[in-house]
Order: sequence, then structure tokens, then C-alpha cells
Amino acid sequence: MPPFSLYTALLLLCATYCTATTIGITYNPSIPNLPPPEKVASTLQRLHIQAVHLLEPTPSAVRAFAYTNISLLLSVPNDLVPSFAANLSAATLWLYSHVLPYHPRTRISLISVGSDVITAVAASDADSDPTTTLIPAMNNLHLSLRDLDIHSIPVSTSFSFINVMTTSFPPSSAEFQEPVNSLIITPLLQFLDETNSSLLINLFPYTVYRMNSEIPVGYALFQENPFNFRDDTITGVRYRNLFDMMVDAVIAAMAVLGQENIPVIVTETGWPSEMESEATGNYAEMYLNGLLMHLRSGMGTPLKKEGVAEAYIYQLFDEIDLKNSSNTNSTTISRSGLGSQRWGIMHPNMTLKYSIDFSVSERILGNGNCLVQMLLVLLVLVPRVEFLV
Ligand SMILES: *[C@@H]1O[C@H](CO)[C@@H](O)[C@H](O)[C@H]1NC(C)=O
Ligand SMILES: *[C@@H]1O[C@H](CO)[C@@H](O)[C@H](O)[C@H]1NC(C)=O
Ligand SMILES: *[C@@H]1O[C@H](CO)[C@@H](O)[C@H](O)[C@H]1NC(C)=O
Ligand SMILES: *[C@@H]1O[C@H](CO)[C@@H](O)[C@H](O)[C@H]1NC(C)=O
Ligand SMILES: *[C@@H]1O[C@H](CO)[C@@H](O)[C@H](O)[C@H]1NC(C)=O
Ligand SMILES: *[C@@H]1O[C@H](CO)[C@@H](O)[C@H](O)[C@H]1NC(C)=O
Repeated sequence: MPPFSLYTALLLLCATYCTATTIGITYNPSIPNLPPPEKVASTLQRLHIQAVHLLEPTPSAVRAFAYTNISLLLSVPNDLVPSFAANLSAATLWLYSHVLPYHPRTRISLISVGSDVITAVAASDADSDPTTTLIPAMNNLHLSLRDLDIHSIPVSTSFSFINVMTTSFPPSSAEFQEPVNSLIITPLLQFLDETNSSLLINLFPYTVYRMNSEIPVGYALFQENPFNFRDDTITGVRYRNLFDMMVDAVIAAMAVLGQENIPVIVTETGWPSEMESEATGNYAEMYLNGLLMHLRSGMGTPLKKEGVAEAYIYQLFDEIDLKNSSNTNSTTISRSGLGSQRWGIMHPNMTLKYSIDFSVSERILGNGNCLVQMLLVLLVLVPRVEFLV
């Protein structure tokens, strides 16, 4: 076996030439009766999961991911947003307990100020108005990070696709809804642009499919089929899955504001199982495998060739026991429009419910498109491929 194998060459080239999306999972360590975070972290590491979106992060969960090389996207709980907005030291205090002791041994890639704040606030009776608190809260957190001399962690906030977009079809006609567009999204994109941050969106093809009976389920599940497509007659682009159509709707809406180059991160996406006839485990498995294969291909979307930068599967464990407590009501509505499905991909005993493979080797060798792309690069760069093999 020569020291420099073809496999190594492909690995190096893949890192250089294929812009595959980072794939992660959403995990809420505050759900009761789950395994301890250390156990979760080591299991996710064993499954080769690259990134975790922590909802309601606890200091012990942030600590559990130290030295794992799994990057964390932290979502500050929504009820802290007004205090962050009012008071820089509230933001600093939160960083002192959740970030400072662990950074950089725990890789923190981004902090989201709240999670789908505009929907959550509208659904609760909170008298805080996100149009006046969200951007100031983000600014204060950003300033606190700078004060603490942390320059590698950008700040953003997440939105729910169905609550901010006017339409998903045709994607090129999509815009952000008013008044959120002018009150929040326009200044937000400015902030993200100035601070090198990313737009965060919770994007559920499941929800759009459920709301539009004419959409074939295969189109939402990434199934290749001659009839599974939709043409955007304005751009002349053909879409072969609902996910790309929704991502491009976001890109088109950003382009209206002149900000289409800001990276997009899908903070939540998934498919529920049980409780409803269509939402069977089989469909969930088809969606997740279709999503992984699509994101690994590095093909991007018709309007954004590098695709989304990161995508987080919603979610690690079922949250069913919390579903009738008031604080999860609003998020349930934004994900499904229905409620009471199980979104977890794992049982509480940490075995996967579905057959899904997150491993990197599959990303390199199990993916035709990326492999062909790399072989072409290899042929161009190295006149005599035999020399390498
Ligand atoms: C850590 O993760 C990054 C990105 O996911 C990767 O580029 C790097 O090679 C990893 N490092 C180790 C030591 O695994
Ligand atoms: C700001 O926050 C700090 C820490 O939470 C608190 O001690 C202080 O009273 C707050 N100041 C104001 C004006 O709310
Ligand atoms: C944003 O990124 C660019 C290029 O990487 C860099 O030159 C610039 O200083 C960054 N700006 C901030 C505010 O970090
Ligand atoms: C909430 O859960 C309790 C106990 O699990 C149940 O008795 C009650 O009916 C539920 N409420 C709703 C609105 O589902
Ligand atoms: C949940 O949301 C629905 C619709 O907005 C509302 O009618 C209901 O009262 C809410 N339930 C709780 C427990 O907050
Ligand atoms: C884990 O839990 C699931 C669901 O309760 C069960 O079907 C499975 O057999 C368990 N696996 C192990 C290894 O305990």
C-alpha cells in the first residue's frame, strides 16, 4: 500500500473542491429524562455528526462537547431577549456562564439570539415587542463578545419559513412578509452583512406539503421521479425537490434587499413520525436520507450554487411530553401547523429510530456526483493518475 493512496488524494481534494453542507442535529438538553449530555456528545461523535444546534443550552451541555470537534450553534432562550436588549451586562452575564468557561475547547460556531422569536412572542402573551428588542439584543450580545475579545463567534437569530415568506412558488417571486420585512429583516441583514454572520431559517418541506394538497409527497421527500418537478417560469429553472425551492425562495427574498450573498443556515428541518397517517416513520427516513444525500452532493440550489452552509435536522429526541406545556405551543405551530408529532430521530436509549448514516466516508465514496467531480479534478491536476494509485 503506497503511503499516498487514491483515497487520501480524494479526501484532500474533497476538502478543497466540494462545498458540501455541514450537517448537524438539533438537541435540547433541557428536556427532562434524557441521557446526560456527556453520553449524548460521545454518541454523536461516534455517529460522525459534525455539528449540533443546542436549543435552551445549559452550561453542562456546552461543556460536554469540549474536545469533540463537534461545533455548536447556541440558541439563547427567547425569554432572555428583552433583558439582552435592555442591558449589555445581561448579555455579558449569559456569556460568562455559557461561553467563556468553555470557549475555545468547545467549538462554538454561532449564537442565535432566540429561536423563531417573532412567532413565539406573537403566540404568547409576552408584552415584549420583538421589533424593538430583537436587533438591540443581538447588538448587545455582539458588543459583549467583542468586549470579551471573542471575535470568532458571529451572532444571528432564526426565523420560521412559513411565518416570514410570502410564497414558496415560484421561488423567484418570494419576498419577506411585511411588516417583519421592513421592521426586522432589513436591519437584520445589514447587521449580518457587517458582522460576517449568517441568516438562520427553520425550513420544513413537511409543513408546505401538508398545507398544499397538490404537492406530491415524493417531491417533498427528494424522490427522483420524472414527474417530480416544478418549473419556475420566471427564471426558467426546474426544481426537483421542495427543499431547494424553499431555499431559493429565501435567496430570492434576500436578493430583493440586495443581500443574497449572506450565507444561509437551515437551523431546523425534519419530518415527524407517528400520530398521523402520512407522517410515518418510513417517510421520515426517506426525507432524512434524501436530505443527507442531497446536501452531501455539493450541488447547491439553482440560485445558490454553494447551497446552504449548514443544515440541522430537527431533532435528536422526541419532545412529546412537553407538547402540552404552554412554552412549546408556539414552536409546535410554526413547525407543523398541527402539533403532537414526534420529531426525534433517536430513542431515549440512544439508538437511532431510522437507518441513517452520517459518516464522512459515505460522503466521499457513496456520492457519485462528488466522486466524479473529484476524479475530474484529479485528472486535470495530475497528468498520470497511476502515479498516485
Ligand atoms: C474538525 O472539524 C472540522 C470541520 O468539521 C474539520 O475540518 C477538521 O478536520 C476536524 N478536525 C479533526 C481533528 O477531526
Ligand atoms: C443589568 O443587568 C445586571 C445583571 O443581570 C443587573 O445586575 C443590573 O441591575 C441590570 N441593570 C439594569 C438597568 O437593568
Ligand atoms: C468579515 O470577513 C472579511 C473577509 O473574511 C474580513 O476581511 C472582515 O474583517 C470581516 N469583518 C468582520 C467584522 O469580522
Ligand atoms: C396535558 O397533559 C395532561 C397529562 O399528561 C393531560 O391530562 C391533559 O389533557 C393534556 N392537555 C392537553 C391540552 O392536551
Ligand atoms: C396554543 O396555541 C393555540 C393557538 O394559538 C391557542 O388557542 C392555545 O390556547 C394555546 N395553548 C396554550 C396552552 O398556550
Ligand atoms: C431502545 O428503545 C427502543 C424503543 O423503546 C427499543 O425498540 C429498542 O429495542 C431499544 N434498544 C436497545 C438496544 O435497548
